[in-house]
Amino acid sequence: MRPKLVVGNWKMNGSRVANATLLTGILEGLDNAKAAVAVCVPAPYLFQAEEILKGSPVAWGAQDVSCHPVGAYTGEVCMTMLQDFGSRYVIVGHSERRAYHGETNELVAKKTGAALAAGLTPIVCVGETLVQREAGQTMAVVNAQLDAVLEAIGAQAIDKIVLAYEPVWAIGTGKTATPAMAQEVHAALREKLRACNAEAAENTLVLYGGSMKPDNAADLMAQPDIDGGLIGGAALKAEDFLGIIRAAS
Ligand code: PGA
Repeated sequence: MRPKLVVGNWKMNGSRVANATLLTGILEGLDNAKAAVAVCVPAPYLFQAEEILKGSPVAWGAQDVSCHPVGAYTGEVCMTMLQDFGSRYVIVGHSERRAYHGETNELVAKKTGAALAAGLTPIVCVGETLVQREAGQTMAVVNAQLDAVLEAIGAQAIDKIVLAYEPVWAIGTGKTATPAMAQEVHAALREKLRACNAEAAENTLVLYGGSMKPDNAADLMAQPDIDGGLIGGAALKAEDFLGIIRAAS
């Protein structure tokens, strides 16, 4: 049985004051949650996340990272910097990075490989746009995104990553994939992982992301191949995030 994982993706939201309220609220309401929990915060707040979360059951990490180890890459943040602040996770290939920052499947694959080599757990996002779904291209798109990553990391490493299926049309729109729609893609993704490494595929966590809320989380996470959630909007309010954590527990 795979454990459930609930990850907050704060995106470009937060302030020192708001973060402190949110993180202490999460810690206070956590009770004995069985699901693993993490928050991926904007890079400037990793220091604060470490200060507040260290020694707690909540892990933390970043939302993007450079594929380069160090050097003349103005504005970029590298793996060792994330590790300096105790990060465990890093999101790679979020659709907003792909759409607004031109990240290709190849670059996402490179970042994934570099994160693994550094000992971080990459949360690799795949997902189709509405146009692609309506054109019947969903599986072709997510397969191509995943293929690039599998090629870069090799069959042995597939359970060292966390995969996140995030249909682009469901992100921040309030339109969630139905549990059946999501499960269909998750099952196909796992089948692909199985073809690569049957044993490791059973241990690879595949999260769903896209307007997951406290009231739809339980149904989504009850699907056999949905192992948790990558949560945007609902991760910014302690009560909502805790509701999803409870649904996962
Ligand atoms: P959302 O975002 O929950 O606000 O739809 C999810 C994500 O983009 O990771």
